[in-house]
Amino acid sequence: MAAPAEEAQRDALVERLFGAALGAYELMTVHLGDRLGYYRALAADGDSTPAELAAATGTNERYAREWLEQQAVAGILEVEDAGAAAEERRYRLPAGHAEVLIDRDSLAHLTPLARYAVSFAGTLAGVEEAFRTGGGVPWEEYGELGRSAQADANRPLFLGLLGSEWLPAIPDVHERLLADPPAKVADVACGAGWSSIGLARAYPKVTVDGYDLDEASVEVARENVAATEVADRVTIHLRDAGDPELAGSYQLVTVFEALHDMSRPVEVLRALRGLAAEDGAVIVMDERVADTFTAPGDEIERIMYTYSVLCCLPVGLADTPSAGTGTVMRADTLRRYATEAGFAEVEVLPIEHEVFRFYRLHG
Ligand SMILES: C[S@@+](CC[C@H](N)C(=O)[O-])C[C@H]1O[C@@H](n2cnc3c(N)ncnc32)[C@H](O)[C@@H]1O
Repeated sequence: MAAPAEEAQRDALVERLFGAALGAYELMTVHLGDRLGYYRALAADGDSTPAELAAATGTNERYAREWLEQQAVAGILEVEDAGAAAEERRYRLPAGHAEVLIDRDSLAHLTPLARYAVSFAGTLAGVEEAFRTGGGVPWEEYGELGRSAQADANRPLFLGLLGSEWLPAIPDVHERLLADPPAKVADVACGAGWSSIGLARAYPKVTVDGYDLDEASVEVARENVAATEVADRVTIHLRDAGDPELAGSYQLVTVFEALHDMSRPVEVLRALRGLAAEDGAVIVMDERVADTFTAPGDEIERIMYTYSVLCCLPVGLADTPSAGTGTVMRADTLRRYATEAGFAEVEVLPIEHEVFRFYRLHG
């Protein structure tokens, strides 16, 4: 028989993993609701029966009924008349939940995390293989789900906080972006382009060159840019930021949540140093991880390590040679890369955000 302390430890883990399994399964049903347009239809049409939801979304009534029941039991939807016959029950999306599930502009929008989980499940066999061989899983393999999860997770930050809080907190950069002659910005590893769009919207004089080496991301970014009013000031380029041929003279060079994914971060930082004009600033936004390894860790540390195991480390190791950084790029690691790339100093900027930390690379 196990000692009481071991039993308590066992039971605590059982409870925790059961909760995690429940959470994982429910997250997948949230993903279905997102992809099938169920949440959007419920928000638009109000209380709906399974038949009404199925008709509004072009889906099968029996499946729609099961999903509605499951969502109500999970407490995500509300049911009007639980005692009515299954086909006649009416379900609604509570107002507070709508923001989380369908408002792409809200900082509370979390369906992109469900999409990330599903994308990670899709690449897991490749990750398992990479663990055995030491190889990697290229970012392209995370597919549309991974790309759009990443893009939609950061979109409200780039269209909101970037221009309203983050850059204004760096006064000389903020002032230069507002001043004449119009400043040029290089937004490196721009993904779906929302940061480039956010920069151009916040600073009406600047021109922005977004760079990314992922073809599918560049295609989406170009579409996103073309649909905005800043299309004449934002250009997206399909380029490897580590390319020593990359030329320019930018007042601001940014890398948002991407340096830790790069196989050769020092080469890229060296190229960025060359891209910045004499009066130019280089700003890196990356994960707000702790300065040292501690275990067990807090929720940020825990989620960053899951991203690292399931995505960022395999993506980084898909190329050789690779620094093999992973999501948990601590400040000292960035300092080391920056020094090797020729920068004199890495300043941690006084910008508060739960998930991200901002660095300015000097010299
Ligand atoms: C995690 S995504 C971040 C995208 C975007 N900055 C954001 O915050 O949503 C990392 C991006 O880095 C790009 N990337 C990785 N290495 C690169 C390189 N050497 N040059 C340009 N882009 C690169 C990938 O294609 C991908 O779009």
